[in-house]
Amino acid sequence: MSTPTGPRIPRHLAVIMDGNGRWAQQRRRPRVIGHRAGTRAVNQCIDFCIEQGIEALTLFAFSSENWGRPQDEVGALMKLFMNALDREVAELDRRGVRIRFIGERGRFNEQIRQRMDAAERLTQGNSRLNLAIAASYGGRQDIAAAARGLAEDVAAGRLQPAEIDERLFASRVALADLPPPDLFIRTGGDFRISNFLLWQLAYTELWFTETLWPDLDAATLRCALEDYASRERRFGLTGAQRPDSDASGAAFPPDETSA
Ligand code: IPE
Ligand code: IPE
Ligand code: MG
Repeated sequence: MSTPTGPRIPRHLAVIMDGNGRWAQQRRRPRVIGHRAGTRAVNQCIDFCIEQGIEALTLFAFSSENWGRPQDEVGALMKLFMNALDREVAELDRRGVRIRFIGERGRFNEQIRQRMDAAERLTQGNSRLNLAIAASYGGRQDIAAAARGLAEDVAAGRLQPAEIDERLFASRVALADLPPPDLFIRTGGDFRISNFLLWQLAYTELWFTETLWPDLDAATLRCALEDYASRERRFGLTGAQRPDSDASGAAFPPDETSA
């Protein structure tokens, strides 16, 4: 349902799952224990979205820059990722979750790539929740790849430079078929985007919490949703231009491309 400031429940939630390492360090355990604990929170977050009727959830699991972490941590994360793919995909499919991965898939090993492909194929007909896992993902890389694709089209004579506008560009970045994220949540207490969905977050409402990712619970997520519901999204217009206002006449939101 549309309300003056947009739907009260976000259609698309984007999450930076941060704080696993610190969660483990607080317990004097190796960082990998925090990553393992973090997988439970992933399930919590997915359950919450399904219960709330959120249409799309994008989770930042591993950034382009995270490849630069110590080898043993990267190795442990890859193992966890493999295990999660083996363990969780069938159940997510049963629950009607469509799974996709965004990011540079070529950087993963063959076994992981095969499991990613298989998960996408298995769940492609599902529509209850659109789950995107950003893995080996970087917002700058995403934008550069879109630019490269457009340049290739121009070089091949399929496209005129003058045809390149925001709408066309938006169709070439990741998640082009989804509405842009309405709400962004970052756990772990840092106030930054860390190269997540740079293009897609242009008008997203941002919400930050000190809660470390493995400690995430439904109460924290409810807090974020309550805060979101209280915000006035103006998309660069004035409050008076909102659709419930007498003065309204503007398209709203102005040019948020939503499929
Ligand atoms: C997020 O937790 C998970 C990944 C980046 C893979 P971190 O590992 O970044 O945890 P902190 O920020 O060091 O506590
Ligand atoms: C962002 O967290 C990436 C993921 C959660 C996957 P980081 O821990 O890598 O970000 P920085 O280094 O604190 O900016
Ligand atoms: Mg971190």
